[in-house]
Amino acid sequence: LEEEQPEPTTYLKDKATSFYVGVAMKSNNLNGKYDEIITHEFTSITAEYEMKMNVILPSKGQYNWSQSDAIVNYGIENELNIHGHALVWHQSTPDWIENFTGTDAEFEQEIKDYITAVVTRYKGKIKSWDVVNEAVLDGNGNLRNSVFRQRMGDDYISKCFQFARDADPDVLLFYNDYNMTEDQAKQDAVFDIVDDMQNRNIPIDGVGFQMHIRYNGPSKAKMESATNRIVERDLLAHYSEVDVRVNPNNDITTLTDERDIAQKIKLTELVEVYNALPSANKYAITIWGIKDNDSWIIDLYNHPDWPLLFNSSFEAKKAHTGFLEGLE
Ligand code: G3I
Repeated sequence: LEEEQPEPTTYLKDKATSFYVGVAMKSNNLNGKYDEIITHEFTSITAEYEMKMNVILPSKGQYNWSQSDAIVNYGIENELNIHGHALVWHQSTPDWIENFTGTDAEFEQEIKDYITAVVTRYKGKIKSWDVVNEAVLDGNGNLRNSVFRQRMGDDYISKCFQFARDADPDVLLFYNDYNMTEDQAKQDAVFDIVDDMQNRNIPIDGVGFQMHIRYNGPSKAKMESATNRIVERDLLAHYSEVDVRVNPNNDITTLTDERDIAQKIKLTELVEVYNALPSANKYAITIWGIKDNDSWIIDLYNHPDWPLLFNSSFEAKKAHTGFLEGLE
């Protein structure tokens, strides 16, 4: 076998000049190889979990700013864009909110106070927020019956966007969700919500497609047609949580060359679709993690996968080259 050639070391940010290249990271990534990769390759960061409500406000009145402050300070020091994720998400609701015992009005006040406190604290530092994440159910397009919906009504989404806007007139406000290119019912429901918000002058600046995709789907055409629905609404598009599973059916035990190359090609397609958007609609492509063995995918599916751009030794994979080739 000829010596495996290392991938060329062009940094992503040196070729992605019309949008941010982001990466999900943690407050224990602020040094060593993680820091090296973040600062050399990327122009934006997203906290993978430390800016969620269950971390920042685990108990009523007990704000924990230490982890989010560390990430924000790191971003400022390294002149990185900081994308806030996520103000309201049913999977990161602290118990005291999930099992809130007060009235609906008191619940709404707690959420308003929380959004106001967080957005105000990072005004001018965090440039954008996923205000509401994953509000629509899979397969049928119905609103998820989260505690936010139960306590604040169907209009909780608009209320949360308004709370965020009232706290910061300039911060970019995103709605974020997954399977947006393949679940037509969900996609239709999300854009119905967006249309309703725009018709009522509720502030929204962009839509995030998480893009947790696979080596063999979605197709480039599906990515294009779904993303064009953001462009049609004059909104910013954010591919907000990109990873590419190469072992969705658990049929490989090592990263085969065939899957490695297929992942590279899928990344190229994704980046080509995004890079072809009008510049007015581009915000960021954010990769959901740094090296393969850190990926949430492995924990979730509990079998091997290699979804990211760097291998477990922090070396750039073919997928990293695929990203670069999507920018040509
Ligand atoms: O590492 C800490 C540990 O020190 C601490 O003792 C422990 C206490 O709970 O937490 C550990 O952190 C865990 C963290 O992942 C480690 O990365 C958190 O428990 C765990 O909740 C967290 O899971 C994250 C999950 O969201 C829930 O916040 C995943 O990393 C993250 O990849 C995942 O990301 C979500 C997006 O926010 C929304 N879209 C779906 C995506 C995947 O679920």
